[in-house]
Amino acid sequence: MSTKICAEADIAVDSPMRVVVDGIAVAVVKDSAGTVHAIGDTCTHGDISLSEGFVEDGTLECWAHGSKFELTTGKPLTLPAYEPVPVFRVEIIDGDVFVDTSDVLASN
Ligand code: FES
Repeated sequence: MSTKICAEADIAVDSPMRVVVDGIAVAVVKDSAGTVHAIGDTCTHGDISLSEGFVEDGTLECWAHGSKFELTTGKPLTLPAYEPVPVFRVEIIDGDVFVDTSDVLASN
């Protein structure tokens, strides 16, 4: 089931936002092209919130040790993390952002 997060206009480009949907921490990111992504917020290397990290070249970088997770696939492109984070379905309906944590688009 999709859950309304906020208005799309409330998300600043390259400024990750942490939300909890159905008990799952999610990092919501609007990339420089304006596409909104939702990926698991917890780094797979340690208990770090990825939404406190940095957006760069289609990735969200963990501030702790620098692993960069691809926004479209959840895959870490750089060590030390080697397990992906889940990627959730995002819908924009009438200017509002909806995230569906039951619909994992990519997790491997
Ligand atoms: S905790 Fe994220 S890279 Fe180490």
